[in-house]
Amino acid sequence: MANVAVIGAQWGDEGKGKVVDWLASRADIVVRFQGGHNAGHTLVVGNQTYKLSLLPSGLVRGKLGVIGNGVVVDPVALLEEIARVRAQGLIVTPDTLRVAENAILILPLHAAIDKAREAKRGERKIGTTGRGIGPAYEDKVARRAIRVCDLAEPETLSFKLDELLLHHNTLLQGLGAGTFEKQALLDHLLALAPQILPFAEPVWERLDQARRAGRRILFEGAQAVMLDVDHGTYPYVTSSSTVAGNAAGGAGIGPHAVGFVLGIAKAYTTRVGSGPFPTELFDDVGKLLGKRGHEFGTVTGRPRRCGWFDATMVRQAVKVGGIQGLALTKLDVLDGLPELKICVGYDINGKRFNYLPAAMGAQAAATPIYETMEGWSGSTQGARTWGALPAQAVKYVRRIEELVEAPVTLLSTSPERDDTIMVKDPFEG
Ligand code: GDP
Ligand code: IMO
Ligand code: MG
Repeated sequence: MANVAVIGAQWGDEGKGKVVDWLASRADIVVRFQGGHNAGHTLVVGNQTYKLSLLPSGLVRGKLGVIGNGVVVDPVALLEEIARVRAQGLIVTPDTLRVAENAILILPLHAAIDKAREAKRGERKIGTTGRGIGPAYEDKVARRAIRVCDLAEPETLSFKLDELLLHHNTLLQGLGAGTFEKQALLDHLLALAPQILPFAEPVWERLDQARRAGRRILFEGAQAVMLDVDHGTYPYVTSSSTVAGNAAGGAGIGPHAVGFVLGIAKAYTTRVGSGPFPTELFDDVGKLLGKRGHEFGTVTGRPRRCGWFDATMVRQAVKVGGIQGLALTKLDVLDGLPELKICVGYDINGKRFNYLPAAMGAQAAATPIYETMEGWSGSTQGARTWGALPAQAVKYVRRIEELVEAPVTLLSTSPERDDTIMVKDPFEG
């Protein structure tokens, strides 16, 4: 028996939420280990749709949810999300949700800086979610961040705010944006403290006990390998480490506990925000994928850019992300397309590459080299067995397996929880 880590293998929105919810029936604890409320995970269960940003997707199954130290927590967003899902009938209490006492807090000034900087970047903007994710992680490594545990110590909050404001008000002024006042921020945090602190604890201890007792832990990633701050299309990335290697550090457990690494990939590719996207389609096929796949950002509502499946990129994500099996989602969106293309390499200024190089200029110049496959006329939508798939759809999946050098472990054929084909149980390792 192994634990499982779920990570995105493209640029996010691959269907991690659906897959984590599905796998959570086999798990005891679901842990978020990075990211923040820039994530948007959609779960469809019967006639209910849950949209989760900070809360671990396992809560929908009534499993214990843990927000690890690697997450940046906006306390206002967290409380709002808890209220929203409670209104949908979910039970979220300190018995079902634990938050690492050493997780970093996102304050209103982080979103202000995020937005002001993006505005100044103009054409070169990253297209962030504007939620203060980057500035909060910067404060963490700069050793001036306010953490969940600080809410219990008004004096600590007071002197930390002095340092924080000295830095950020200077920056905000330079950016021509409004500044923040210490007393107002202090009052804001002290008012939040009694609502947040009941969820706080050293989660590493609980996870250690769970591990020793043989409980199954599911690590839920947000974003994806190509948005990883080291391995992604930098600087058009998020500010955290999204690879499975960070599941341990971001939760407070050893690397051996992470277990099987499941990468999630769509049967095509999408991206929200700016940055290189070699297989992006600007034609009717791209529009069709966006329409059929309902490709609009869960968090910002922005239309997602769409393109063909990029096997070269996913292969790279498999390697750097430590992916041992792939969950391929949204195969149904390709139903009825006469022809499908898969990117098997790039032409960069006349030279062939079998990976995406790190340099910005090279990434922008990468032109996909395609392999073309026949589509299928039947439907995969809602299929729950391998046998229910058209033969040509199976061929497409097999070719992807070959090209990305990872087996397909799960196949998803609709947004609905149970429209999932399990090839191999990831918890069996
Ligand atoms: P995440 O961020 O990786 O959790 O993905 P999102 O929830 O942001 O985006 C994935 C979208 O695709 C959601 O609206 C899901 O309901 C939907 N979805 C997931 N799997 C499938 C699938 O196999 N087929 C279709 N048609 N939709 C899916
Ligand atoms: P889930 O977990 C897709 C993108 C933003 C932007 C870049 C940086 O739902 O897959 P940030 O606000 O993080 O500083 O923005 O990263 N981005 C996502 N794109 N899915 C996500 O999360 C994303 N989280 C951030 O669009 O390009
Ligand atoms: Mg999403």
